[in-house]
Amino acid sequence: MALAYCNGSFIQSDEPAVPIDERGHQFGDGVYEVIRVYQGRPFMLDEHLDRLFKSAAAIRLEIGHDGESLKRIIGELTQKSGLSDLDLYVQATRGIAPRNHLFPACPASVSMTAKPFREIPADARAAGISVMLHPDERWLNCWIKSLNLLPNILAKQAASERGCLEAVLVRDGQVTEGTSSNVYMVKDGAIRTAPLSNQILAGITRMAVQRIAHELRIPFIEQSFTPEELRQADEAFITSTTTEVMPVVRFEDGSLVRDGKPGPVARALYERFRAMTGQD
Ligand code: PDD
Repeated sequence: MALAYCNGSFIQSDEPAVPIDERGHQFGDGVYEVIRVYQGRPFMLDEHLDRLFKSAAAIRLEIGHDGESLKRIIGELTQKSGLSDLDLYVQATRGIAPRNHLFPACPASVSMTAKPFREIPADARAAGISVMLHPDERWLNCWIKSLNLLPNILAKQAASERGCLEAVLVRDGQVTEGTSSNVYMVKDGAIRTAPLSNQILAGITRMAVQRIAHELRIPFIEQSFTPEELRQADEAFITSTTTEVMPVVRFEDGSLVRDGKPGPVARALYERFRAMTGQD
Protein backbone atom coordinates (compact mmCIF):
# COMPACT_ATOMS: atom_id res chain seq x y z
CA MET A 1 0.00 0.00 0.00
CA ALA A 2 1.13 3.53 -0.66
CA LEU A 3 0.06 7.05 -0.01
CA ALA A 4 -1.87 8.65 -2.85
CA TYR A 5 -3.37 11.95 -3.90
CA CYS A 6 -6.62 12.20 -5.81
CA ASN A 7 -8.26 15.48 -6.83
CA GLY A 8 -7.46 17.39 -3.66
CA SER A 9 -7.42 14.57 -1.08
CA PHE A 10 -4.61 12.50 0.34
CA ILE A 11 -5.71 8.87 0.63
CA GLN A 12 -4.30 5.36 0.76
CA SER A 13 -3.68 3.94 -2.71
CA ASP A 14 -6.01 0.99 -2.12
CA GLU A 15 -8.98 3.20 -1.17
CA PRO A 16 -11.69 3.37 -3.84
CA ALA A 17 -11.32 6.78 -5.45
CA VAL A 18 -11.96 6.57 -9.19
CA PRO A 19 -15.58 6.40 -10.40
CA ILE A 20 -16.44 4.05 -13.26
CA ASP A 21 -16.99 7.09 -15.49
CA GLU A 22 -13.45 8.40 -15.03
CA ARG A 23 -11.98 8.79 -18.52
CA GLY A 24 -8.61 7.34 -17.61
CA HIS A 25 -10.46 4.19 -16.60
CA GLN A 26 -12.85 4.18 -19.60
CA PHE A 27 -10.56 5.31 -22.41
CA GLY A 28 -7.01 5.68 -21.11
CA ASP A 29 -7.71 9.33 -21.95
CA GLY A 30 -4.82 10.90 -20.09
CA VAL A 31 -1.09 11.30 -19.63
CA TYR A 32 1.38 10.45 -16.88
CA GLU A 33 4.87 10.78 -15.46
CA VAL A 34 7.08 8.57 -13.30
CA ILE A 35 9.44 10.63 -11.16
CA ARG A 36 12.05 9.34 -8.74
CA VAL A 37 12.63 11.06 -5.42
CA TYR A 38 16.13 10.62 -4.00
CA GLN A 39 16.59 11.62 -0.36
CA GLY A 40 13.46 13.71 -0.44
CA ARG A 41 14.41 15.53 -3.66
CA PRO A 42 12.55 14.77 -6.89
CA PHE A 43 15.14 14.19 -9.62
CA MET A 44 14.87 16.52 -12.65
CA LEU A 45 11.39 17.57 -11.58
CA ASP A 46 11.22 20.60 -13.88
CA GLU A 47 12.03 18.39 -16.87
CA HIS A 48 9.36 15.84 -15.86
CA LEU A 49 6.71 18.53 -15.38
CA ASP A 50 7.68 20.15 -18.65
CA ARG A 51 7.15 16.80 -20.41
CA LEU A 52 3.84 16.30 -18.58
CA PHE A 53 2.56 19.66 -19.80
CA LYS A 54 3.76 18.91 -23.34
CA SER A 55 1.99 15.52 -23.30
CA ALA A 56 -1.17 17.15 -21.94
CA ALA A 57 -1.10 19.92 -24.57
CA ALA A 58 -0.62 17.29 -27.28
CA ILE A 59 -3.89 15.60 -26.29
CA ARG A 60 -5.57 19.01 -25.71
CA LEU A 61 -5.90 18.39 -21.98
CA GLU A 62 -5.95 21.31 -19.56
CA ILE A 63 -4.52 19.85 -16.33
CA GLY A 64 -5.96 22.60 -14.15
CA HIS A 65 -2.71 23.08 -12.20
CA ASP A 66 0.41 24.99 -13.07
CA GLY A 67 3.89 23.66 -12.35
CA GLU A 68 4.09 25.39 -8.97
CA SER A 69 0.80 23.85 -7.87
CA LEU A 70 1.90 20.35 -8.94
CA LYS A 71 5.23 20.87 -7.17
CA ARG A 72 3.39 21.80 -3.97
CA ILE A 73 1.27 18.64 -4.12
CA ILE A 74 4.32 16.50 -4.93
CA GLY A 75 6.17 18.07 -1.97
CA GLU A 76 3.26 17.46 0.36
CA LEU A 77 2.78 13.87 -0.82
CA THR A 78 6.49 13.15 -0.39
CA GLN A 79 6.49 14.65 3.09
CA LYS A 80 3.30 12.85 4.18
CA SER A 81 4.64 9.53 2.84
CA GLY A 82 7.39 9.66 5.45
CA LEU A 83 9.74 8.16 2.84
CA SER A 84 12.85 9.76 1.45
CA ASP A 85 13.42 7.50 -1.57
CA LEU A 86 10.34 6.90 -3.63
CA ASP A 87 8.76 6.55 -7.03
CA LEU A 88 6.14 9.19 -7.66
CA TYR A 89 3.49 8.44 -10.24
CA VAL A 90 1.55 11.44 -11.55
CA GLN A 91 -1.48 11.05 -13.81
CA ALA A 92 -3.82 13.56 -15.39
CA THR A 93 -6.98 12.51 -17.23
CA ARG A 94 -9.85 14.25 -18.97
CA GLY A 95 -11.99 13.89 -15.85
CA ILE A 96 -15.21 12.22 -14.83
CA ALA A 97 -18.17 12.28 -17.24
CA PRO A 98 -20.66 9.80 -18.73
CA ARG A 99 -18.94 7.73 -21.40
CA ASN A 100 -18.80 9.55 -24.72
CA HIS A 101 -15.78 9.78 -26.99
CA LEU A 102 -16.11 13.56 -27.36
CA PHE A 103 -14.31 15.80 -24.86
CA PRO A 104 -16.49 16.41 -21.76
CA ALA A 105 -17.00 19.82 -20.15
CA CYS A 106 -15.52 18.85 -16.80
CA PRO A 107 -12.28 19.49 -14.96
CA ALA A 108 -9.31 17.16 -15.39
CA SER A 109 -8.59 14.52 -12.76
CA VAL A 110 -5.15 14.59 -11.19
CA SER A 111 -3.90 11.68 -9.12
CA MET A 112 -0.54 10.60 -7.75
CA THR A 113 0.96 7.74 -5.79
CA ALA A 114 4.13 7.68 -3.71
CA LYS A 115 5.74 4.25 -3.38
CA PRO A 116 9.05 3.22 -1.86
CA PHE A 117 11.34 2.64 -4.79
CA ARG A 118 12.35 -0.86 -5.60
CA GLU A 119 16.11 -0.88 -5.60
CA ILE A 120 17.49 -3.25 -8.24
CA PRO A 121 19.74 -5.68 -6.33
CA ALA A 122 23.42 -4.91 -6.91
CA ASP A 123 24.14 -8.43 -8.19
CA ALA A 124 21.31 -8.21 -10.77
CA ARG A 125 22.65 -4.85 -11.91
CA ALA A 126 26.20 -6.22 -12.02
CA ALA A 127 25.00 -9.12 -14.20
CA GLY A 128 23.05 -6.96 -16.68
CA ILE A 129 19.76 -7.88 -18.31
CA SER A 130 18.43 -9.84 -21.26
CA VAL A 131 16.20 -8.24 -23.86
CA MET A 132 13.89 -9.53 -26.56
CA LEU A 133 13.56 -7.89 -29.96
CA HIS A 134 9.90 -7.24 -30.72
CA PRO A 135 7.97 -5.38 -33.44
CA ASP A 136 7.02 -1.84 -32.41
CA GLU A 137 3.23 -1.97 -32.76
CA ARG A 138 2.52 1.39 -31.11
CA TRP A 139 0.93 4.46 -32.66
CA LEU A 140 2.97 7.29 -34.16
CA ASN A 141 2.87 9.67 -31.20
CA CYS A 142 5.21 7.83 -28.86
CA TRP A 143 6.66 11.16 -27.69
CA ILE A 144 3.39 11.68 -25.76
CA LYS A 145 3.49 9.88 -22.41
CA SER A 146 -0.03 8.56 -22.85
CA LEU A 147 -1.85 6.17 -20.53
CA ASN A 148 -2.51 3.90 -23.51
CA LEU A 149 0.17 1.25 -22.98
CA LEU A 150 -1.38 -1.90 -24.44
CA PRO A 151 1.33 -2.57 -27.08
CA ASN A 152 4.01 -1.87 -24.45
CA ILE A 153 2.35 -4.26 -21.99
CA LEU A 154 1.99 -7.04 -24.57
CA ALA A 155 5.60 -6.70 -25.72
CA LYS A 156 6.97 -6.61 -22.17
CA GLN A 157 4.91 -9.64 -21.20
CA ALA A 158 6.18 -11.55 -24.26
CA ALA A 159 9.74 -10.60 -23.25
CA SER A 160 9.19 -11.71 -19.67
CA GLU A 161 7.88 -15.07 -20.87
CA ARG A 162 11.20 -15.48 -22.71
CA GLY A 163 13.14 -14.68 -19.54
CA CYS A 164 13.90 -11.09 -20.59
CA LEU A 165 13.48 -7.92 -18.56
CA GLU A 166 12.70 -5.62 -21.48
CA ALA A 167 11.47 -5.77 -25.07
CA VAL A 168 13.49 -3.71 -27.53
CA LEU A 169 11.06 -2.39 -30.12
CA VAL A 170 11.81 -2.41 -33.84
CA ARG A 171 9.99 -0.30 -36.43
CA ASP A 172 10.87 -0.29 -40.14
CA GLY A 173 14.04 -2.24 -39.43
CA GLN A 174 15.34 0.24 -36.81
CA VAL A 175 15.45 0.01 -33.01
CA THR A 176 13.21 2.71 -31.56
CA GLU A 177 13.24 2.22 -27.76
CA GLY A 178 12.14 -0.21 -25.07
CA THR A 179 8.58 -0.67 -23.78
CA SER A 180 9.45 1.55 -20.81
CA SER A 181 13.00 2.66 -21.50
CA ASN A 182 15.33 4.21 -24.07
CA VAL A 183 17.84 1.91 -25.78
CA TYR A 184 21.52 2.54 -26.61
CA MET A 185 24.42 0.71 -28.21
CA VAL A 186 28.11 1.47 -27.88
CA LYS A 187 30.48 0.93 -30.78
CA ASP A 188 34.11 2.01 -30.94
CA GLY A 189 33.70 4.15 -27.83
CA ALA A 190 30.66 6.10 -29.10
CA ILE A 191 27.12 5.88 -27.73
CA ARG A 192 24.33 5.60 -30.28
CA THR A 193 20.61 6.00 -29.66
CA ALA A 194 17.55 6.81 -31.78
CA PRO A 195 17.10 10.55 -32.41
CA LEU A 196 14.21 12.35 -30.73
CA SER A 197 11.13 12.05 -32.94
CA ASN A 198 7.48 11.08 -32.75
CA GLN A 199 8.65 7.44 -32.57
CA ILE A 200 10.20 7.57 -29.09
CA LEU A 201 9.66 9.15 -25.71
CA ALA A 202 12.16 11.88 -24.89
CA GLY A 203 13.44 10.16 -21.75
CA ILE A 204 14.50 12.32 -18.84
CA THR A 205 17.19 9.76 -17.99
CA ARG A 206 18.26 9.96 -21.65
CA MET A 207 18.71 13.71 -21.15
CA ALA A 208 20.79 13.08 -18.01
CA VAL A 209 22.91 10.46 -19.80
CA GLN A 210 23.48 12.80 -22.73
CA ARG A 211 24.80 15.44 -20.29
CA ILE A 212 27.01 12.88 -18.55
CA ALA A 213 28.39 11.62 -21.88
CA HIS A 214 29.24 15.23 -22.76
CA GLU A 215 31.04 15.68 -19.42
CA LEU A 216 32.94 12.41 -19.86
CA ARG A 217 33.74 13.32 -23.49
CA ILE A 218 32.04 10.20 -24.81
CA PRO A 219 30.51 10.83 -28.24
CA PHE A 220 26.69 10.68 -28.08
CA ILE A 221 25.33 10.04 -31.54
CA GLU A 222 21.59 10.41 -32.10
CA GLN A 223 21.23 8.04 -35.01
CA SER A 224 19.03 4.97 -35.28
CA PHE A 225 20.53 1.50 -35.56
CA THR A 226 19.32 -1.88 -36.71
CA PRO A 227 18.83 -4.99 -34.55
CA GLU A 228 21.88 -6.46 -36.35
CA GLU A 229 24.01 -3.47 -35.33
CA LEU A 230 22.76 -3.89 -31.76
CA ARG A 231 23.76 -7.56 -31.82
CA GLN A 232 27.24 -6.58 -33.03
CA ALA A 233 27.66 -3.77 -30.49
CA ASP A 234 30.52 -3.56 -28.01
CA GLU A 235 27.97 -2.69 -25.32
CA ALA A 236 24.27 -2.07 -24.97
CA PHE A 237 22.20 -0.53 -22.21
CA ILE A 238 18.79 0.91 -21.44
CA THR A 239 17.79 3.92 -19.35
CA SER A 240 14.65 4.92 -17.50
CA THR A 241 13.62 6.62 -14.30
CA THR A 242 13.21 3.29 -12.55
CA THR A 243 16.12 1.28 -14.03
CA GLU A 244 18.50 4.28 -14.25
CA VAL A 245 21.35 3.01 -16.47
CA MET A 246 21.06 -0.75 -16.96
CA PRO A 247 23.48 -2.83 -19.05
CA VAL A 248 22.01 -5.22 -21.64
CA VAL A 249 24.12 -8.35 -21.99
CA ARG A 250 21.99 -10.98 -23.72
CA PHE A 251 19.20 -11.50 -26.26
CA GLU A 252 16.21 -13.82 -26.06
CA ASP A 253 17.91 -16.40 -28.26
CA GLY A 254 20.81 -16.69 -25.81
CA SER A 255 23.26 -14.71 -27.95
CA LEU A 256 25.43 -12.27 -26.04
CA VAL A 257 26.39 -8.64 -26.34
CA ARG A 258 30.13 -9.12 -26.83
CA ASP A 259 31.30 -11.24 -23.84
CA GLY A 260 27.95 -11.07 -22.03
CA LYS A 261 29.26 -8.76 -19.32
CA PRO A 262 28.37 -5.12 -18.64
CA GLY A 263 30.83 -2.83 -20.38
CA PRO A 264 32.89 0.14 -19.21
CA VAL A 265 30.80 2.87 -20.86
CA ALA A 266 27.56 1.78 -19.15
CA ARG A 267 29.46 1.45 -15.87
CA ALA A 268 30.96 4.93 -16.13
CA LEU A 269 27.57 6.46 -17.00
CA TYR A 270 25.91 4.66 -14.09
CA GLU A 271 28.55 5.76 -11.60
CA ARG A 272 28.21 9.36 -12.65
CA PHE A 273 24.41 9.06 -12.62
CA ARG A 274 24.53 7.78 -9.03
CA ALA A 275 26.62 10.75 -8.04
CA MET A 276 24.16 13.09 -9.78
CA THR A 277 21.28 11.57 -7.81
CA GLY A 278 23.20 11.80 -4.54
CA GLN A 279 23.42 8.02 -4.09
CA ASP A 280 27.11 7.91 -3.20
N1 PDD B 1 8.79 4.76 -18.54
N2 PDD B 1 10.42 5.17 -23.30
C1 PDD B 1 9.24 4.75 -22.82
C2 PDD B 1 8.25 4.16 -23.76
C3 PDD B 1 8.95 4.89 -21.45
O1 PDD B 1 7.76 4.50 -20.97
C4 PDD B 1 9.94 5.44 -20.58
C5 PDD B 1 9.69 5.63 -19.12
C6 PDD B 1 11.17 5.84 -21.14
C7 PDD B 1 12.25 6.46 -20.29
O2 PDD B 1 11.88 7.74 -19.85
P1 PDD B 1 12.42 8.35 -18.48
O3 PDD B 1 13.92 8.26 -18.53
O4 PDD B 1 11.92 9.73 -18.49
O5 PDD B 1 11.87 7.51 -17.35
C8 PDD B 1 11.36 5.71 -22.49
C9 PDD B 1 8.39 4.92 -17.15
C10 PDD B 1 9.50 4.74 -16.18
C11 PDD B 1 7.21 4.00 -16.91
O6 PDD B 1 6.30 4.03 -17.73
O7 PDD B 1 7.17 3.30 -15.91
